[in-house]
Amino acid sequence: MNNLKNLRGTVDLLPDQLIKWQNVEKILLEQLARASIKEIRTPILEMTELFIRGIGEGTDVVSKEMYTFLDRGERSCTLRPEGTASVARALIQKGMSSNPLQKLWYMGPMFRYERPQAGRQRQFHQLGVEFIGYDSVRSDVEIVALAWDVLSKLGIKELNLEINTLGDVSDRLNFQKSFLKWLEINKNSLDLDSQNRITKNPLRILDSKDIQTKKTLENAPRLFNFLSEKSHKRYSDFKKQLEVLKIPYVENFNLVRGLDYYTHTAFEITSGALGSQATVCGGGRYDNLIKQMGGPNTPAIGFAIGLERLILLAGKEFEVPRNTDIYIINQGFIAEQLAMDLSRKLRNYDLLVELDLSGSSFSKQFKKANKLKSKSIVVIGEDEATKKEFIIRLFAQSDNGNKEEVISLENDFGLEKWINNNLLAK
Ligand code: HAM
Repeated sequence: MNNLKNLRGTVDLLPDQLIKWQNVEKILLEQLARASIKEIRTPILEMTELFIRGIGEGTDVVSKEMYTFLDRGERSCTLRPEGTASVARALIQKGMSSNPLQKLWYMGPMFRYERPQAGRQRQFHQLGVEFIGYDSVRSDVEIVALAWDVLSKLGIKELNLEINTLGDVSDRLNFQKSFLKWLEINKNSLDLDSQNRITKNPLRILDSKDIQTKKTLENAPRLFNFLSEKSHKRYSDFKKQLEVLKIPYVENFNLVRGLDYYTHTAFEITSGALGSQATVCGGGRYDNLIKQMGGPNTPAIGFAIGLERLILLAGKEFEVPRNTDIYIINQGFIAEQLAMDLSRKLRNYDLLVELDLSGSSFSKQFKKANKLKSKSIVVIGEDEATKKEFIIRLFAQSDNGNKEEVISLENDFGLEKWINNNLLAK
C-alpha cells in the first residue's frame, strides 16, 4: 500500500516551524489591535457564486484556480481563494455594510490551484484588513501606511511600494474602448496568453510578464490618460499624503491586480529578498463590490499579506522559542500527584511550566530540564512528598551560583513570593 501523503501545494507546519509563525503573528495582531481594527471570521467554504460575482469570471483566480466541487446536496461550493468577497457577503447578509466605518481584519487559509513553488502554495495563509464604508483619500493612506508599518515593524528589508490608480468605472470604460481597438491592431505582437485575455479580461494584459508583450505595450493607450479630473485629483492627493508620511513609493501604471473588484487606488508591496514570488502584500479600493453583490453603495479599501512570504522574509530572531521557566521533576506515586497539583497552581502565573510525565529516573528528568534550558526546576521525590514540600532551584544566570529554596506545598504565599522575586522580577 502507498504511504499517505499531503496534497501537492499544501504544507504541514511542525512545532519548531510554528515558533516563527506564532512570534510573527503576535506582532501582527498587536499592531492591528493598537490601530483599533476588529477581527471578523467568515467560513472557509462558500457558495461558488460568491467568488464568480465578487472576484470576476474572467480572472485567473476564478477561471483557473478555484477548488470547486458539488457537496452532497449538489450545491456548488468553493474553498475561499481570498477573503474580501466573504467579508463583503457577511456584512451585507447581517445588514451591516451600511453601518458606516468599520475597520476589520481576518487571518486564515486560502486556496488557489496554482503551480507550487517557493512562496506559492495551493493552501496558503493571508492576513487581510478591510476598511468598510471609508471613502476619503486619508483611508487609502491609512491602509497603505498600516501595511507598510506592519512589515517594517517585523524588520523586513528591501521593501518596495508600487502604486497605481485604476480610476472609476466610467474612466475604465473609456480606456477599455480605446485599448480594445489598439489590441485588435497589435494582437499578433502579443503572447498567446495575452491574446486569449482580449475577450476575457483585457486589463490584465497590462501586467503581462512576457518581454515582447511588455515592449509592445509601451505604445498602448494609458489608463492614466483617461482619468476624469476627479480621479486625477484623488490620485495626486493620495501621492502627496504618502510623501508627507515619508512612505516611499514607485508608480507602476501596469499594476492592475488579479481581481476585478478594484477601483482607484491599487498597490502592492514587494521585497527584493523574495525570489520570483516577490509580492508580500496586495490591496486596493473596491468601491463597487458591495453594491454589485446586492448591498448598499459602500466604498471600501483593504489589503492582504501572504503569511508564507512574510515568514520567508522575517528574520531568525523570530525563530527563538520561549524558554521553559519551571521544569517539574517528580517521581513516586504521591509525589506525582502533588506535582500535578503544583503544576496547575503554577499555570496561574505567566510562566512556561512543564510537568515531566515520563516516570523516568531523576537523572533523566534532570537531563531533560537541562536540555530545555529551563530557568528553574522543582523537585518532588518521596522524601519531599512525605514532608509535603518541594525544592525549587533557580539556575545561575551569571556567576552567582544556583539559588535553592525548600517551600511547603501548603505555603502558596511562599511560592508566589519566590516566583515574583526570581522569575517574574524585571
Ligand atoms: P492578492 O494579491 O490576490 O489579493 O493576494 C494577497 C497576497 O496573498 C499576495 O500578495 C501574496 O503575498 C499572497 N498570495 C496570493 N496567492 C498566493 C499563493 N498561491 N501562495 C502564497 N501566497 C499567496 C487578495 O487576495 C485581496 N483579497 C487583497 C485585498 C484585500 N484587496 C482588498 N482587500
